[in-house]
Amino acid sequence: MAGSGVFSEIIDGEVFKYYADGEWLTSSSGKSVSIVNPTTRKTHYKVQACTQEEVNKAMEIAKAAQKSWARTPLWKRAELLHKAAAILKEHKAPIAEALIKEIAKPAKDAVTEVVRSGDLISYCAEEGVRILGQGAFLVSDSFPGNDRTKYCLTSKIPLGVILAIPPFNYPVNLAVSKIGPALIAGNSLVLKPPTQGAVACLHMVHCFHLAGFPKGLISCITGKGSEIGDFLTMHPGVNCISFTGGDTGIAISKKAGMIPLQMELGGKDACIVLEDADLDLVAANIVKGGFSYSGQRCTAVKVVLVMESVADAVVEKVNSKVAKLTVGPPEDDCDITPVVSESSANFIEGLVMDAKQKGATFCQEYKREGNLIWPLLLDHVRPDMRIAWEEPFGPVVPVIRIASAEEGIHHCNASNFGLQGCVFTKDINKAMLISDAMESGTVQINSAPARGPDHFPFQGIKDSGIGSQGITNSINMMTKVKSTVINLPSPSYTMG
Ligand code: G3H
Repeated sequence: MAGSGVFSEIIDGEVFKYYADGEWLTSSSGKSVSIVNPTTRKTHYKVQACTQEEVNKAMEIAKAAQKSWARTPLWKRAELLHKAAAILKEHKAPIAEALIKEIAKPAKDAVTEVVRSGDLISYCAEEGVRILGQGAFLVSDSFPGNDRTKYCLTSKIPLGVILAIPPFNYPVNLAVSKIGPALIAGNSLVLKPPTQGAVACLHMVHCFHLAGFPKGLISCITGKGSEIGDFLTMHPGVNCISFTGGDTGIAISKKAGMIPLQMELGGKDACIVLEDADLDLVAANIVKGGFSYSGQRCTAVKVVLVMESVADAVVEKVNSKVAKLTVGPPEDDCDITPVVSESSANFIEGLVMDAKQKGATFCQEYKREGNLIWPLLLDHVRPDMRIAWEEPFGPVVPVIRIASAEEGIHHCNASNFGLQGCVFTKDINKAMLISDAMESGTVQINSAPARGPDHFPFQGIKDSGIGSQGITNSINMMTKVKSTVINLPSPSYTMG
């Protein structure tokens, strides 16, 4: 159970502690932040409301801890990460329980998130050993006008303190996707979890604590964004920010100083369906891509752009699958569970009502109880409807009928977002042309958008983000190149 057994030291009465300097602490604010269970809509957990002074302290300690961590041999860093991964997987049940209660993640998906995170940490350890274990050796006579008098040795060095801010929908997995690369590369890390998802994050951090990472290397600061959000992101002690979330990321990137940023800020992933597509495959992927975790994924299928000639068939096949989706509490492992908050449910409802008023065809009756919204396919959506452009982050998928592939590409590229997209066709030549034409960080051919496997590059363009993620890219992003040049008094040619 969350907060018990090996996790009993992370809770004080009914409030979970925060983590800094290798210890579980109670904030001097004496205040807490409530975490509302999306299903019951009642407070389920409480976490510390940390103060700005506590942020300052964590930053100071992180800076000092990073110096000695950077002197820790790479194989030892990898060994500790493997240990943390094993402990995380061993304790998947209480962490999954927190995900169920905090963010209404369906039971099986909650366990999968924890296991996937353990695998991600182990992969970081292995990839780090591979890519950080080697540098480059350059000689000067390859550049015009130079003799072989300079030997340049390059290696990758850590940036310092990484600020990691994961979102509510993958609080464990998208936290470790930042922690693993940061630590293997010799950085220290300050984690600011989302409010909903904070308890799962604290449990995950305790697994790193149990693995024996040095004091101060990792901190997990909980609290109100209004109190410590800007303070953290504008803190002079931060050397890099890795953020996943909504358009708050745009504000962060405007305020952050001259430091590397890794931002993943959502998408309006288009699914283009051509006439020759395998329509059963299309329907299965629209349902999986659009409705898994109730559409609360940045890579969810958020608009279907289907050729008119096959649109009726696609809509019919999707509808018959939607009818089979189970709707209810996450504890019962239902396909569709309550969305994260009442304000999120209200926002989704606003998009649905706008589409209704403007004449979209409702393939199912719109139904909502509290934060639970039944899956809904909206057909005959037109570009003047909000749902054609905005991301609902809920179980609502709009269908726009198109007369040509160009029309689909045009709609996709007119979006402010450019995270992922997908195209369904049996013609690989057409698929490649469309993929090249789509302004998206990734295009999937004959499958729904998805971030994983976690070592694949993952990036958005336009308002979808800055930089590229995926294990290898994140390790590289959290390092910089350092060169040492040996200057010889006279040219030296090997075997010369
Ligand atoms: O919500 C954003 C995530 O990066 C999406 O990850 O494709 O594994 O669901 P996913």
